[in-house]
Amino acid sequence: MNYRTLGRTGLPLSELSLGSWRTFGESISEETADELMTMAYEAGINFFDNAEVYMAGESELVMGRILKAKGWRRDSWCVSSKVFWGGNEPTRKGLFRKHVIEACHQALERLQVDYLDLYFCHRPDLNTPIVETVAAMTDLVRQGKILYWGTSEWTARDIALAHAAAARENLVAPVMEQPQYNLITRERFEVDYSRLYDEVGLGTTVWSPLSRGELVGHYLEENGGKFVVSKQGEQWLQSAGLPPGYEARVKQVAAFANVARELGIPPARLALAWVLKNPNVTTAIVGASSTNHLEENLKAVDDVSLLTETVMEQIETIFQTRPIAEEVFR
Ligand SMILES: NC(=O)c1ccc[n+]([C@@H]2O[C@H](COP(=O)([O-])OP(=O)(O)OC[C@H]3O[C@@H](n4cnc5c(N)ncnc54)[C@H](OP(=O)(O)O)[C@@H]3O)[C@@H](O)[C@H]2O)c1
Repeated sequence: MNYRTLGRTGLPLSELSLGSWRTFGESISEETADELMTMAYEAGINFFDNAEVYMAGESELVMGRILKAKGWRRDSWCVSSKVFWGGNEPTRKGLFRKHVIEACHQALERLQVDYLDLYFCHRPDLNTPIVETVAAMTDLVRQGKILYWGTSEWTARDIALAHAAAARENLVAPVMEQPQYNLITRERFEVDYSRLYDEVGLGTTVWSPLSRGELVGHYLEENGGKFVVSKQGEQWLQSAGLPPGYEARVKQVAAFANVARELGIPPARLALAWVLKNPNVTTAIVGASSTNHLEENLKAVDDVSLLTETVMEQIETIFQTRPIAEEVFR
């Protein structure tokens, strides 16, 4: 495993980290969750991602029980929670002081820890002044209940406003953002945030590096030496609720899978290596419901060197998702 420092902090996070969305407390047993965390930890993963909204707290309860039972040194791993969607009542949703503080206390209890290493604002809250959220986060940092705080899917403007508020009021500024980043969704990470990496030293814990599995080629089969869409795959694609025109995407993923095959690795590893090649990524949070998948994905840290300029261009030509240069100057 390789480690990258989280933005301008000194915190070393493993390049790959493990998330619990849609799996812990939901689609997998606690035993499997335990196996996944154990495999991850033994491979050097030191960051486990969670949120109050994942299965309405159940995911944190499962992770908390596993962390407690494992007895791994508390100073050898990091755990996160995210605040925003706590429940249906008006006082349980948003980034106002009351919910930020109460959600933190609840996450600490569910995860059975004294402090959260990373605490994220899961989305922006347009009804709460940013300075109120920054002040609440600052209090939690100063009380030792959280170590670092950050945002998830905030606009660059709102992150900059949070920094301005922190500088103006002598508060603690956010140090990391958790955006989606993969071969399909790139614009916010590569364009919108581009100045923040240097200007404020933004660290990133990116989510869905495999585009929720879209890039792994689940729905392909080999036919005559080429990848084609299988019958089962057709059905899966219909149920995945992808936008119209998914056939074009499927062809792209098939072409991508062929590039991966030429390199001798599965498409999932190539997609992860592509994300890791970007130095502005601190850690890529992977989701998996089987140890087979996690075991495979762990190998991606050694695949980055396969991404030569030629391979990168081949991939760009397939997906055509590179944000156009003009947008950088818009
Ligand atoms: N901040 C946010 O708003 C936000 C939003 C979404 C997610 N997240 C975080 O990001 C984490 C990861 O998100 P994600 O689950 O969408 O990540 P992902 O890694 O992009 O996708 C996971 C999917 O890929 C499949 N997969 C993984 N490895 C594979 C392999 N080697 N071969 C074939 N299929 C493979 C998994 O299948 P199996 O399940 O069958 O293994 C699963 O369906 C979440 O757990 C959560 O912590 C954050």
